[in-house]
Amino acid sequence: MPVVRHALLCSILAVSAAAQAGGWRSLQSLPQRSTIDQGAIWWGEQDRLQVSLVDDGVMRVRYAAQSGFGRDHSWAVLPVAQSPTAEIVESEGVTELRSAAIHARIQHAPLRVSFWDAGGQALDADDPERGIAVVGNAVRVWKALQANDQVYGFGQKNGRLNKRGWSQGGYHYTMWNSDTFAYDSSTDPTYVSVPFYLVLREGRAFGVYFDNTHRSSFDIGRESPDLLSFGATGGELDYYVIAGPTPKDVIARYTHLTGRMPMPPRWALGFHQSRWSYHPASKLQWIADTFRQKRIPADTLWLDIDYQQDFKPFTWDRLQFPDPAGLIGGLREQGFRVVTIVDAHPPLQPGYPVYDEGHAGGHFVTRPDGSEFSGPVWPSQAPQDKRDSVFPDFTSASTRDWWGGLYASLLDLGVAGIWNDMNEPSVWIKPSWTMPLDLRHDNEGQPTDHAEAHNVYGMLNTRSTFEGLQRLRPDTRPFVLTRATFAGGQRYAAVWPGDNTADWSALRQSIPTLLGMGLSGFPFVGADIGGFAGSPSPELFTRWLQAAQFSPFMRAHTEQQSADQEPWSYGVRHESINRRVIEARYQWLPQIYNEMEAAHRSGLPAMRPLFLDYPNDPETWSRDDSYLFGSDLLIAPVLVEGATHREVYLPGAAWYSFDSVQRFEGEQSHRVPVELDSLPIFVREGGIVFRQPVVQHTGEMPGKDLIVQLYPGAVGEASFYEDDGETMAFARGVFARRAFRQQRDADGVQLGIDAQQGRWRPAARHWRIEWLGLQGIGEVRDGDRRLAQVDPDAIDECERCWAQAGDRVLIRLPDRATAVNLRLR
Ligand code: GLC
Repeated sequence: MPVVRHALLCSILAVSAAAQAGGWRSLQSLPQRSTIDQGAIWWGEQDRLQVSLVDDGVMRVRYAAQSGFGRDHSWAVLPVAQSPTAEIVESEGVTELRSAAIHARIQHAPLRVSFWDAGGQALDADDPERGIAVVGNAVRVWKALQANDQVYGFGQKNGRLNKRGWSQGGYHYTMWNSDTFAYDSSTDPTYVSVPFYLVLREGRAFGVYFDNTHRSSFDIGRESPDLLSFGATGGELDYYVIAGPTPKDVIARYTHLTGRMPMPPRWALGFHQSRWSYHPASKLQWIADTFRQKRIPADTLWLDIDYQQDFKPFTWDRLQFPDPAGLIGGLREQGFRVVTIVDAHPPLQPGYPVYDEGHAGGHFVTRPDGSEFSGPVWPSQAPQDKRDSVFPDFTSASTRDWWGGLYASLLDLGVAGIWNDMNEPSVWIKPSWTMPLDLRHDNEGQPTDHAEAHNVYGMLNTRSTFEGLQRLRPDTRPFVLTRATFAGGQRYAAVWPGDNTADWSALRQSIPTLLGMGLSGFPFVGADIGGFAGSPSPELFTRWLQAAQFSPFMRAHTEQQSADQEPWSYGVRHESINRRVIEARYQWLPQIYNEMEAAHRSGLPAMRPLFLDYPNDPETWSRDDSYLFGSDLLIAPVLVEGATHREVYLPGAAWYSFDSVQRFEGEQSHRVPVELDSLPIFVREGGIVFRQPVVQHTGEMPGKDLIVQLYPGAVGEASFYEDDGETMAFARGVFARRAFRQQRDADGVQLGIDAQQGRWRPAARHWRIEWLGLQGIGEVRDGDRRLAQVDPDAIDECERCWAQAGDRVLIRLPDRATAVNLRLR
């Protein structure tokens, strides 16, 4: 219960009618004030402003202009167990809220809010002049933008990574989930809305999350170079200010607020092959056989809309797919998983069980008069029975349960994952291309219109899928891919940025887009490799595959009319390069899995911009043609046609070209020569990375050597995680985590591996430890035991041994759970 400490009557009226551009009325002051444990509330006849501490380092501002606050409900923000108490300090005309990591200062007349971190660094602050303002149902706030503020985030957005814009020209973004086939770098909005951004100010960061699902917009220095504003066409101005001080702290706090990605199944980190559409069954089988015959690794094959009867969810076209269980079972024996598309737009067709059940249960979105809404999507183009579709109302818990349960029929056939598409929702009604805004949604018992529910429709579709899969197979990690989603949707699905195009600028755009998603809480992302609309040249396909070698989600996919887009579709030279790229993906899988587990735990993206690890280096602030993968790898894909060189900026101290001892100094750019088969990868000085021999799919991993590469450097540390890759046993302690520490100094060279934490044991295998840049070693000891030296060619046959191979020392040992201490002299 709020404790009313005191109320103050101000003489000034609620919202002044001070006319501003566009008719905005700016909030001046409010006559009443009281304090609660977490903060303070101001109110007048209709308006209400509340500023409160909600979590460690997180303050919330809530303002409603019309009739007080509505229900305190969020689809994105997770319930906070218990909000900490803020210290409240009142002085003349000012209220301050203080906590360990963040302070708020609220000036009473006019009402303006600003924030500081515990170190006294200014964070977010209202623009003194404009502050909060309203016009009609719309609400907006103007914030001061400082000259050196860099701005990032906003989920899946086109344009550069740094939204301050080069030459400070700024950006203006809209949040409205939209089906934007063949979009380009200037298209906005697209499929996803994440109203979150991060400001980097001279190396220190803070974040803002605007928790409003209506159509919203953000102006970053475009209206005026010293202003950032955001607002929505309806609902409350309800936002969270998130303290750093580092950008990593901001993302950790933001994802504590809105949740983190679930642990993915390991197969989902392998290579995925898709197209619209592989049909009939024999075509899919031929694709599978060709991967295995050509020894190009892959884990997952995708079935797009044509596997269904007349594009009806949860049906099979039995002429083309007479025996889905037999097909999927056979593919499973070849080491493939199958993911099927399931669009949430069943046709309005009495007699079709999904329609009948949904209709009887009142599960479909209705018009204001209560009748079922229907509109054209894929089923309106069905080969035979063309129909308009109805749309499950995923804002209702019972509808989510019902729809989620329907996946049983697919899981029973052996389907491993679900692809939710068209869930903006895309409805082919011009000009909106979505549902009418006055349609009704249950909204968990507080009915609302589509204008409010639109942006969460896709996210709640995936919530229904994810929770359905969890209920149906409680011990299996669900895999869901979605096109549309909202802040917090990372809890339910991986995301791909929709229908990109097969051209070089789309390849280049894919990097800042994926990096921006990672900063916005979505680490499990990847774009259609090769581009969706159109057909890539052989060179473009190869470059895209390389750029995606460390894409968390790595899938080739293309549209219906395009040329073949498999790794072998571009002639023998490209086939062998493409094979090597995918082989490399699998060689890196131990590292990739390790980093994705870290993303699941911490919320920090594995694929990340340079500034995330080097926020104090201004050279990193606008880099978006290369990326870090974790902290130890820097990837600089070739993004230009016909390139013979690649400029790479390396932050920090020093890096090594992958798998070599070629050293590159940090804090400078390097010009690296490239060939068609080059993907420049750099490993941080002292880095320890984890790899394995080539496998054809993740099912072949058990028993394979774990390769541990140690790069030159005085010291280096890494943590390495593994588990069964599939079940929920990891959550019950069945995993293996080990800390590795290398040291190279005058006393010699050492590697310490701590005893493993967790109860999972890998199948019997060996470690192959590769010490780069090490010569003149005469003795290797494993604890007290002296290892035998062998010829480098014999290293893979011995049980425990070492060899000097050129500039590296190789050591082979059986994997064990106990601590290891290797000393080299
Ligand atoms: C949409 C999807 C695309 C899919 C197609 C057919 O355009 O974005 O990936 O292949 O629909 O389902």
